[in-house]
Amino acid sequence: MEKKAFLEWLSSYTQADQCLEAFYSQNDFFRVNTLKISPKKFREISKITVKPLSYDAAFQIDENKRFEIGKTWEYFLGLIYPQSLPSILTSLVLNPNKSDIVLDVAASPGSKFSHIAMLMENKGILVGNELKEEKISALYATINRMNILNCIVTIRDGSRLDWRSRFSKVLLDAPCTALGSGAAAWERWQPDNSSKISALQKRMLFSAYDALKPGGTIVYSTCTYAKEENEEVVKNLLDSVPSASLENVDFGFDFAHEHGLSEYGNEFRKCCRVYPQHLRSEGFFMAKIRKAE
Ligand SMILES: C[S@@+](CC[C@H](N)C(=O)[O-])C[C@H]1O[C@@H](n2cnc3c(N)ncnc32)[C@H](O)[C@@H]1O
Repeated sequence: MEKKAFLEWLSSYTQADQCLEAFYSQNDFFRVNTLKISPKKFREISKITVKPLSYDAAFQIDENKRFEIGKTWEYFLGLIYPQSLPSILTSLVLNPNKSDIVLDVAASPGSKFSHIAMLMENKGILVGNELKEEKISALYATINRMNILNCIVTIRDGSRLDWRSRFSKVLLDAPCTALGSGAAAWERWQPDNSSKISALQKRMLFSAYDALKPGGTIVYSTCTYAKEENEEVVKNLLDSVPSASLENVDFGFDFAHEHGLSEYGNEFRKCCRVYPQHLRSEGFFMAKIRKAE
């Protein structure tokens, strides 16, 4: 698609020039797997030079020393998971604990899934679902490499789970147009792609919400900016289900971001939009929804 048309569209959301510049100058991040090693011990034994962040399990790789992190012994031993910073923050927003029963509706390759297991300290129950059989091996590879012991893997259509009220927490990291990542996002951008995928996202959010116990919380996230895939999907649930309400997206740490779009209602300020210029990382949307008791 034309870069000019993409930039016009992008500028309806954010400062397109800053966003574009940040597309080309993203930092690399990873998360230390505390199921295997503490962040302190990791820094003692690893020669990867990093900048610490306020969340102590996440690190930014020193920008002067770029290398292929997926080829390091730290990666092969499952001590680290290379992950964008907003992706790391998503599991913090879900905030799972040792006694939770958690569902990750679209789990492969397992970046957030393995982080959730880590936050649960390998206790409780964690179900990782994925539709596509060809993507299951990547999820199993993550499970084995990161030593995840509290999980079950399922292969189902996330828009038709039929798992009523079983889970205390649910993550729906939905399939999306993924315009938050990649410098050449405009080459993939088509004006009507978001409306097309939005219908699937709405069905998946209904199905994921149905799987949530009363009193439970669900995090809905995408790595794209289009409101049709974000606020509109959440609004569709809130308008149809009286028990659903928005909660503040809280990382537990101070990281730059913007509120959700208030054109959908003031409560959408509780949602979070991260653009590439905020964290020099991927663009993301997150909403946290509670099901009333
Ligand atoms: C954004 S990716 C998930 C990334 C993953 N949460 C992570 O952090 O590593 C979306 C995933 O949804 C899967 N997917 C697509 N349609 C689905 C459906 N109907 N039900 C379940 N998963 C689906 C895709 O195969 C893809 O793996």
